[in-house]
Amino acid sequence: MPALLEFEEAAMFSAEIQCMFLVTGATGGLGRRIVRQLREQNLPVRAFVRLNARYSELEQRGAEIFVGNLLNDRDIEKACRGVRVVISAHGANATGEGDAQSIDYRANIELIDQAKAQGAEHFVFTSVLGADRGYEDAPVFKAKREVEKYLQQQADGLGYTILRPSGFASNLLPLAERFRQTGIYLLIGEPQNRTSIVSTDDLARIAVASASLDAARNRVFNIGGPEALSRDQIPKIFGRIFNREPIIINPPLLLFDGLRGAVGLVSPSVSESLGTLRALLANEYLVTPAEVALLETTFGFQPESLEHFLRRCLGI
Ligand SMILES: NC(=O)c1ccc[n+]([C@@H]2O[C@H](COP(=O)([O-])OP(=O)(O)OC[C@H]3O[C@@H](n4cnc5c(N)ncnc54)[C@H](OP(=O)(O)O)[C@@H]3O)[C@@H](O)[C@H]2O)c1
Repeated sequence: MPALLEFEEAAMFSAEIQCMFLVTGATGGLGRRIVRQLREQNLPVRAFVRLNARYSELEQRGAEIFVGNLLNDRDIEKACRGVRVVISAHGANATGEGDAQSIDYRANIELIDQAKAQGAEHFVFTSVLGADRGYEDAPVFKAKREVEKYLQQQADGLGYTILRPSGFASNLLPLAERFRQTGIYLLIGEPQNRTSIVSTDDLARIAVASASLDAARNRVFNIGGPEALSRDQIPKIFGRIFNREPIIINPPLLLFDGLRGAVGLVSPSVSESLGTLRALLANEYLVTPAEVALLETTFGFQPESLEHFLRRCLGI
């Protein structure tokens, strides 16, 4: 190969490494969408996945697959090599090993340390709306808040964007499929509690753009969709989409608390982790119109409604 060509290839390779994105939780509801959007923009991305996860779609889209486990510090160190931007989109889930302490807290602290040690420029952290409300009984909320504080202390070198989203619209897709078949919607707790459910695709778009926008550097964004929906509006939206009258089953939160107490007798750790779900069921998760307007001006697009997201994803 002529020397000039070799040089050009090496330069291209190093430029690619220079702007490499690392996405953790790349097989999750959010992470998968972030990888898709990065690849649609032809940006190089390393997807941190577990061996047992379903990652072939990411590979087919041209992501570099890094097989590892976030419980393992050595994997985190290796995954961060040559990375310019880290987007943390992982979280402890029912299928995986690890809990709020090890996955939502410790793995993020390790990622931040490694990103910094290896010269990354920007860290996008997926927190949660309400992380700053001080819910004592909700381990994930506490972990998110502590990671936020740690990240904000890394003043030298590593820029950050903290995203605090409300509930993801993609969580509702399996519920919509069940509704399509049965007409049933299970609504635990107060039907009038409101939430600004966010399109998971919009959130992915914001996560990707945060890495390159000055207006997003060292900022915290509360992120939600354009509507404040009471929880009983969700089955009504399903009803409209599938042209079917919803059957709403609405057990009170007290029933959840009773079951959680019973679980606690057998497994205190499971009961503890259910505290996060209780905080989600018992409270409102709203963004203000001013916060939605700030998202629109900063990121340059109008967020889609829940109904639009569902119809688009379900092809209806
Ligand atoms: N869902 C919501 O409504 C919501 C709302 C606000 C904030 N958030 C936050 O947004 C983030 C993404 O949420 P999501 O709903 O997209 O999560 P998700 O679908 O549950 O995905 C979690 C991801 O983390 C990965 N993961 C878990 N343990 C791991 C480990 N030990 N090693 C490597 N990877 C591991 C999972 O891998 P596997 O595929 O192998 O399991 C999966 O890719 C989380 O931080 C969550 O707390 C979510």
